[in-house]
Amino acid sequence: MATVDQDVTTARTIVAVSERLVLTRPQEGDAEAMFAIHGDPETNRYNPYGPQRDIAQAREQLAGFVADWPRDGVGYCMVSTREEPEVIIGVAGLFLHTLDGEQVFNLYYRFRPSAWGKGYAAEACRAAMAEALPRFPGIPVTALIRADNLPSRRLAERLGLVADPDGRVDHEDRLIHRMA
Ligand SMILES: CC(C)(COP(=O)(O)OP(=O)(O)OC[C@H]1O[C@@H](n2cnc3c(N)ncnc32)[C@H](O)[C@@H]1OP(=O)(O)O)[C@@H](O)C(=O)NCCC(=O)NCCS
Repeated sequence: MATVDQDVTTARTIVAVSERLVLTRPQEGDAEAMFAIHGDPETNRYNPYGPQRDIAQAREQLAGFVADWPRDGVGYCMVSTREEPEVIIGVAGLFLHTLDGEQVFNLYYRFRPSAWGKGYAAEACRAAMAEALPRFPGIPVTALIRADNLPSRRLAERLGLVADPDGRVDHEDRLIHRMA
């Protein structure tokens, strides 16, 4: 595997650096970037709740993302390109939670439409997993995806997750995918 040059200059707290991307911890000042991503109807086409309505909702979700890190030592990351580390193009990473009584990671990804079709989401997820999974051995990676969200299911499959063979869904009717 090619060695990645880790040299990225940013005031943000770096979690991982990949070939083209830098993953950083979410921080309080990211509300506008969060809203740009989560308030966009395009990025919520398969979300039954629809896009976030206002920046207050983005702030609330962001506060949760920020709090996950000091509590769990892991969480979702803000994703930027290495060329523009202050410009957030997506969110990706792992959240530690309990699913059907089992401690698992939830893999999450949501990117600005302008960042789709470049392999960025896959690259960010791989970097997040490579950074976190060795620190949490034995915790399985899962993803909750609506059956009709084909772009998301394609990405999950590319990353090695497969849909539950019995079609098991969570309480929001999302197919439970799991790292094979
Ligand atoms: C799900 C989502 C992140 C997928 O984004 P994506 O850009 O398609 O995913 P990837 O990073 O895997 O990129 C793959 C695409 O980049 C292309 N690509 C271009 N350059 C590439 C490169 N250097 N390396 C890899 N892929 C590359 C691939 O050909 C592929 O395009 P295709 O789908 O047209 O075949 C995006 O659709 C999204 O944010 N959706 C809204 C949020 C959402 O639904 N999240 C999931 C909730 S469960």
